[in-house]
Amino acid sequence: GEWDIKWAENSPDLAHLQRAAAQLQSTDTPVAFPTETVYGLGADATRSSAVRGIFQAKQRPTDNPLIVHVYSIQQLRGLLRPTPGNDPIPAIYRPLIERFWPGPLTIILPKPTDSVLAPEVTAGLGTFGARMPRSLLALVLIKLAGVPLAAPSANVSTRPSPTAAEHVKDDLDGRIEIVIDGGPCEVGVESTVVDGLTYPPSILRPGGVSIDQLRQCPGWEDVVVGYKNAPENGSQPRAPGMKYRHYSPKAPVILYEASTGQPTVDAILEYTGEGKRIGIIRTHSWPLACGLPVRLWDINLGSGTESVARGLFSALRELDKNGVDVIFVEGIDDTDGNIATAVMNRLRKAAQITA
Ligand code: TXA
Ligand code: MG
Repeated sequence: GEWDIKWAENSPDLAHLQRAAAQLQSTDTPVAFPTETVYGLGADATRSSAVRGIFQAKQRPTDNPLIVHVYSIQQLRGLLRPTPGNDPIPAIYRPLIERFWPGPLTIILPKPTDSVLAPEVTAGLGTFGARMPRSLLALVLIKLAGVPLAAPSANVSTRPSPTAAEHVKDDLDGRIEIVIDGGPCEVGVESTVVDGLTYPPSILRPGGVSIDQLRQCPGWEDVVVGYKNAPENGSQPRAPGMKYRHYSPKAPVILYEASTGQPTVDAILEYTGEGKRIGIIRTHSWPLACGLPVRLWDINLGSGTESVARGLFSALRELDKNGVDVIFVEGIDDTDGNIATAVMNRLRKAAQITA
C-alpha cells in the first residue's frame, strides 16, 4: 500500500538531513548515508555531473552501473514508461515489492528511451536497478532531496563495503563533506539484485534477501542463479591471484571452505613465516590457534549466520588497521539457500577465488 514519512519540525536530525539534501541539490559532491545493508554514496540520479561525482570520489570504473534509490512506489513509477490505466511496474515484481520493500532487494527495470535518469547511472544499459532502502534516515534524505538517489557502496573501489560511518571516513575523508551517521548497518552485506525481465528470473547478486525467501514468492519459484559462486576446484584454499580485486583488505585473504577444516600450523607458516602478523576471522568451529610463533589478531564473528554477515566487512577492515600480513578466514556452509550465500560470495571474491 501507499504510505508517507512525516517528521517533527524541530528535530536536530532533520536539520542535518536538510543540509545534506541541499548539498545533493546544489553541488556535485556526493553525500554518504546509511542503509540497512551498507553505507551508500548518493547523488541526484537525474543529473550527470552529480553522478560523475560518485565515480570520481570512489574511483569506480564507469562501466559498472549504479542502483537508483527511491523512497516511495510513486517515485519509482515516475521513472518508468507510463502505461495508461495500468501500473507501469512489471507484474513479476509486485509480490517481491510487497514482501521485501523497504528492504535489501534491488530489481532490474526497463529504462524508458526518454528516461530522466542520467546516462552515467546505467553505464549504457537499457535497464536500471532500483531499490527502496529500509533505513529511515535514507528514506527521509531521498524525500527531502526530491529526486531519486544513485548510490553505490560508499567505499573506495576494491575495498570492503562500509558498514559504519567510520569506515566511510577511513576511505573517503577529504573527497566528500557529509556522512550521515546511522550507526552500524543492520544486515551488513549488500542488497540482492534480481532480474525478472527474462524467463526464468535470475539472481544477479546474492545479498540480504535469500534465495529461499525469493522462491516463496509467486512467479519466483524457479529463480536461477545468474552469477558465478562455486569455488573453481573443489574446496582447496587458494593463494590470491593478482588480476581481480573486490571486497579486498590490503592483506591477502586465505579462505577455508566450511568443509575443509581449519588450517594446520604448518599451512599457516607456509603462507607467512615466523614473526609475521596474522589475522584470523572465525565463525562456527575453529578453536583458537595458539602456540604459533606469530602475532595473532583473532576475530570471532559468532555462530549465527546473520551475525557473521553483519560483522564480516568490519572485521576485514579492522585487521587491515592492525597491519596484518595475511588473513585466514573460516568459511560457512552456504548450501542452505540463506544469507550464507551472500557471505561466501563476498569472501570468495575477497580471496580472489571467483571473479
Ligand atoms: O545494498 C546495496 O545494494 C548498496 C546500498 C548502498 O544500497 N549498494 C550497492 O551498490 O551495493 P553497488 O554499486 O556497490 O552495486 C550495484 C550492483 C552491481 O553489482 C551492479 O552491477 C548491479 O548492482 N546493477 C546495477 N544496475 C544494473 C543493471 N541495470 N543491470 C544489472 N546489474 C545492475
Ligand atoms: Mg560495492
